[in-house]
This record gives sequence, structure tokens and C-alpha cells, in this order.
Amino acid sequence: MAGIANSFKNSSDIHLWLIEHRNDAPNRFLSEPELARKQAIRREAKRHVFSLSRSALRQILATYLGLDPQEVPIAVMPNGKPFLSSEKSDIYFNLSHTGGLTLVGVASGRQIGVDVEKLDPRRPWQKIAKRFYSEQEIAFLEGGKMEDFFQLWTLKEAILKVRGEGLSRPLRDFSFSLDQPFPQKITDRGMSFLISPLHTGGNYSAAVAVEKSDDATFTVKKWPNFDPLA
Ligand SMILES: CC(C)(COP(=O)(O)OP(=O)(O)OC[C@H]1O[C@@H](n2cnc3c(N)ncnc32)[C@H](O)[C@@H]1OP(=O)(O)O)[C@@H](O)C(=O)NCCC(=O)NCCS
Repeated sequence: MAGIANSFKNSSDIHLWLIEHRNDAPNRFLSEPELARKQAIRREAKRHVFSLSRSALRQILATYLGLDPQEVPIAVMPNGKPFLSSEKSDIYFNLSHTGGLTLVGVASGRQIGVDVEKLDPRRPWQKIAKRFYSEQEIAFLEGGKMEDFFQLWTLKEAILKVRGEGLSRPLRDFSFSLDQPFPQKITDRGMSFLISPLHTGGNYSAAVAVEKSDDATFTVKKWPNFDPLA
């Protein structure tokens, strides 16, 4: 990746990288612990997605840090959220993968959470909503669209992932109104966040949440091409 350098022009910049899952994607940058994780994944398809996602993540972060991909110091918090363990950098990241696509979010000086889901009409989405969503969201989805169900899902996961809480916290703890403008400000347990859906193109729903409710400019780009999609 020599010659490519990514940086933030403003602290409000948030970069969202889309990585299409291709069979020929490089998967050679993994650390020893990542290789061990990869070997432990039973299903070949999942192993491939883990590997190409981590490789792309390392290549992307390397361009911000000015390091080789293998040198990017990725560590894991006790709650499972990966982070950069370098004291010299204020770069934060998060990653999500679904059938055919990986999303990597990168921010400066603030925590970030991202989620992407492939739209799947076979999912019993009304049943899932009744079980996990808030009363207002269930009412909103009555006679509604599958796309709205997935959009709400990704917003909920993005907010859980910015906090590092994962699915240890009930999804109905956060309730979103899709008929209100985004980005929306959220205050939760003494912290504030900004959250927004993302337009990735294709058959996907995606969202990003960042710590602090100050301004944020979300730019979606393709990896390894650099054309902004918007
Ligand atoms: C994090 C979580 C919500 C991901 O959900 P998902 O839709 O299956 O998967 P996604 O593709 O969106 O995200 C997976 C990625 O999120 C990141 N991630 C893992 N744990 C995370 C957390 N707690 N917070 C934020 N991001 C996390 C990882 O990069 C992971 O990718 P990887 O496994 O390839 O490294 C889910 O895995 C989860 O809840 N895990 C349990 C976390 C937990 O409760 N830990 C408690 C330990 S005490």
C-alpha cells in the first residue's frame, strides 16, 4: 500500500470503508493470534470472510498510521471490541461483516461503532421485531417494510458497538424514529453519541454511531478503490 496515506482533515471527519467479498482478496496480513482465530473457525466461508476482513482492516489502518499492515497494533478489550493499542495514535475503528460485504469505520479521537446487514426477506422480521424492538418501533413496523426492520437493527447494533456492549444489552434499550431526520443525537448512561444510517448501495442496510454529539461528516468509500460513493 506504499504511497497511499489517509488522514482526517477535520476531527469531525468519519471514514466508512466498504470491502466487497471477493475470492481473490488478499488475506496475508494476519497476526499470530488472528491466524489462530482463523484456524478455529470451522466453516470455510466464515474463515474466508474473517481473514479478508482482517486483512483489509489492517491495510486500511496502516494507511492512517504509516505502518505496514502486519505492524498495526490491534488489541481486544475485555468486552470483545478490537482497538488500536498505540499510545501515539488517536484513531478509533470498528468493523462489521455480512453476506458479501464488510464495513470498516474509522474516526479520530472518538469511539465508533458500525453495523451492516444484508437484506434477507427469508428472515421472520416481524417476529424478531416483536421480540426485541421497542413498542414504538413495533408500531412503526406494523404493515411496514423489511428494509425499515433492517435499518432499525443496524442503528441498534451500531449504538451497542460504539459502547462496546455488543448484544449483552437488550436491543429495546434504544428506540429510533426513522421518520425523524438523521444524524440523531443520543444520550445514554452519561455519554452522548451521534448516529446515522449509511447508504452503501446494493442490497444492504448499514449504520454508524460515534461518541460525542458534536458535528460529524460521514464519507463512504470503497476499498481498495477510492471513489466516494455518494
Ligand atoms: C459485537 C456483536 C454485537 C457483533 O454482532 P454481529 O452482527 O454478529 O457481527 P458484526 O459483523 O456486526 O461485528 C463483528 C465485529 O465486531 C467487532 N466486535 C466484537 N465485539 C465487539 C464489541 N463488544 N463491541 C464492538 N465491536 C465488537 C469485531 O471486530 C467483530 O469482527 P471479528 O469477529 O471479525 O473481529 C456480537 O458479536 C456480540 O454481542 N458479541 C458479544 C460481546 C459480548 O457480549 N461480550 C461480553 C463479554 S464479557
